[in-house]
Amino acid sequence: MPLRVLSTDLDTEIQQLISELRRTTDDDQQRAATAESDRELAMVLSELRLIKDEFEINEMREACRQTVAAFEAVVASVPDAVRRGRGERWIEGIIGLHARHLGNAVGYDTIAAAGDHACTLHWIRNDGDLREGELLLLDAGIELDSLYTADITRTVPINGTFSDEQRMVYDAVYEAQQAGIAAARPGARFAEVHQAAIAVIAHYLGDWGLLPVSVAEALGEHGGQYRRWMVHGTSHHLGIDVHDCAQARLESYREGVLQPGMIITVEPGLYFKPDDELIPPPLRGIGVRIEDDILITSTGNENLTAALPRSSGDVEAWMSNIWTPSESAIE
Ligand code: GLY
Ligand code: MN
Repeated sequence: MPLRVLSTDLDTEIQQLISELRRTTDDDQQRAATAESDRELAMVLSELRLIKDEFEINEMREACRQTVAAFEAVVASVPDAVRRGRGERWIEGIIGLHARHLGNAVGYDTIAAAGDHACTLHWIRNDGDLREGELLLLDAGIELDSLYTADITRTVPINGTFSDEQRMVYDAVYEAQQAGIAAARPGARFAEVHQAAIAVIAHYLGDWGLLPVSVAEALGEHGGQYRRWMVHGTSHHLGIDVHDCAQARLESYREGVLQPGMIITVEPGLYFKPDDELIPPPLRGIGVRIEDDILITSTGNENLTAALPRSSGDVEAWMSNIWTPSESAIE
């Protein structure tokens, strides 16, 4: 029986111990099987994690609760971040402070992307300013000491109010997310969540005259033209790893069926790069993503991050309330 190891960033001493054990105990055939056995172990562990038990769901609830609190602290601090310059770093710092104080760390590098930085998918340099009139896309998660992590994205107007163009793009992404969340039900295929979201995205891109083909063609077998502006998948599993269960087999994950206890993200986006000549100038540089963490239940789903406002109107009201609390809220 070969030794099986889930080897991710092992301590050097442990790595040496494993090599020594393998050298002294494995015969040639077992040694040849080692890499394959390690992959098999990673796959089995990934698949075991697809459905979360009660402990894991409670950890995820707590990670989401703490991340929601950190996002609220970020909104409170947006005017300060504008004033200080290098506001993206200030925002990243606030998330980091909450993550280290309340949990173990951030679950992944925080993406604090103001203005057209939002069009760079994993903008983690975070060295830009926050400017009035632009959007801030914040993608962050607090990881607990148990290592379970949330993964939330909100895109907010830095001055508290969406411009007409920003609102138009935001509302399309919001509708796509609503469709994706509605599709995240037990018995549905994992891929159906993405299909539901991109159907809405393609519909809006068609209405705005941006697609070079019809909406039906874009959504057909040889289509995909919307991918120029919605450049990633809509969902991934989430848990002890931000991209949890990544070694699961295709048939259990990408081609799998959603079951109660699974937790997935639903995170459509639209990204109009500043130099994209297919995009009307007023829309260039606008990047929007909305991401929530969705627990599949026996009857549908539960949004574990529902405490954070999502619709454009709710986001504006939320920011306004944080910046100017009503007298009754102060008392
Ligand atoms: N929020 C980071 C990611 O999903 O890749
Ligand atoms: Mn994500």
